[in-house]
Amino acid sequence: MTDRMTDTVNMEPASISACPVAADLGAELFAAGSQENWFESYKVLHDEAPIARIPGKGWLPGTDAFIVSKFEDIASITRDPRFFDLMPEDVSAAASAGSSKIENEIFREEGFGEAADARQTLRPTVEQHKRYRMQLWDPWVGPEGAEQHREMVTAAANDLIDRWIDDGEVEFVTQFAAPLPQTVITTILGFPLQDMPTLKKYEEAQVRRFVFGDGPRNELPDDVERENAAVLVDFHRYIQSQVDEKRQNPKEDMVSFLTQVEYEGRKLSDGEIISIAVLMHIGGNETTQYALTSEALLLAQRPDLAQELRADPSKTRFFVEEALRLYAPTQGGAGGRYVPEDMEIRGVHIPKGSLLHLRFGAGNRDADLCPAPEELRLDRKNPGRHLTFSMGPRNCPGQGISRLEQNIATQVLVDRLDNIRFAPGKNDFTHQPGIMLGLYNLHLEFDKR
Ligand code: HEM
Repeated sequence: MTDRMTDTVNMEPASISACPVAADLGAELFAAGSQENWFESYKVLHDEAPIARIPGKGWLPGTDAFIVSKFEDIASITRDPRFFDLMPEDVSAAASAGSSKIENEIFREEGFGEAADARQTLRPTVEQHKRYRMQLWDPWVGPEGAEQHREMVTAAANDLIDRWIDDGEVEFVTQFAAPLPQTVITTILGFPLQDMPTLKKYEEAQVRRFVFGDGPRNELPDDVERENAAVLVDFHRYIQSQVDEKRQNPKEDMVSFLTQVEYEGRKLSDGEIISIAVLMHIGGNETTQYALTSEALLLAQRPDLAQELRADPSKTRFFVEEALRLYAPTQGGAGGRYVPEDMEIRGVHIPKGSLLHLRFGAGNRDADLCPAPEELRLDRKNPGRHLTFSMGPRNCPGQGISRLEQNIATQVLVDRLDNIRFAPGKNDFTHQPGIMLGLYNLHLEFDKR
């Protein structure tokens, strides 16, 4: 494949004529290879169809999906209490999408019903959800809780770089961007680091639907769904064995903490702990991997940025926020919001039972959000104002640890590597399918500082 090492790598614009007409654009966002065109498609969506309909892809039979691409619309939907409840149980039974239903049935058959029901038992209301986050997540991965891991994250980043710094080149995804978050999340959960190769397989099964799933419902064929669920049952069993061990012999890690903590006047059940560990694992790994990859890509693309960050490390956090805004790892929301009653958005009638696909990556590049939204600027007034971690009560609980990893990684990379550049002839800058923005690989060369 040819090396497209130009200023326009990573999907910066293909010609606008390559974009389908706006009416079909919503569906096209999910087509094979569309990743390479997404940013250009967003401009057309903003101008011509800020609420774009995909016929027949709603949750209830006969309803449609709608792509929401404007910053303000997405922000207000994430904050609207009508969308706090995920799909109600009775509707879920009637909904046309079968795929995660099969998964849940298999979990129940295999004795993990408590884990499947944990959302209801741990956080059925907005108020309880807040307490769940504050008491169980924030001490470990929230903005302040994450700080306790600074030393561990710094050591893990340096250790990975030590392994290849003398080679003058690296395939960055497999040698840094993937193993760093994996080491961090495995350590925080308290799982043995030697289990990471097995955990990687579980992680791939966890994200399969968001990479290979079809359309805004991220559907997998039933047979794939069953095979995948079997791997995830193994993962549940693995976590169960960790919970058993830590109930007996608690250590200084998150799963041990969850076995001991009093929440709403009671101890957590094994299934509830498993549900939290499962979420930590799916949320914490691939997303941060994609962010770290985009940041390294930017450093290679823009040597001036690397120099600026080296000269003034206080700019690192502005760089990270701009990278997160421009290259949101979760370009589209997973699953899709269930519309609980008939409503209207921007004059478009949206019937009950429809699906809203929140296109975070498009909202981040909305001209109404900031001037010159396509540009990376280190002097933005509100650098963290983006949708990458979503907003409202269901926003990402792991943003503290992810930001910490990205800030430390960027600083360590520019401190230890000079002249970071693309390895000639080795990169094609293509992305995996699905709703996330994941480069398959990134071959870099550099000089050791
Ligand atoms: C760059 C890295 C990350 C990105 C871009 C990201 C993005 C997101 C987004 C967009 C959501 C959906 C919120 C919604 O639907 O409104 C979310 C939810 C979530 N994230 Fe993250 N995330 C990242 C890192 C992490 C990490 C490190 C963890 C765990 C340590 C994590 C755990 C979760 C969990 C558990 C949820 C579900 C929240 C809920 O429904 O209660 N994420 N994340």
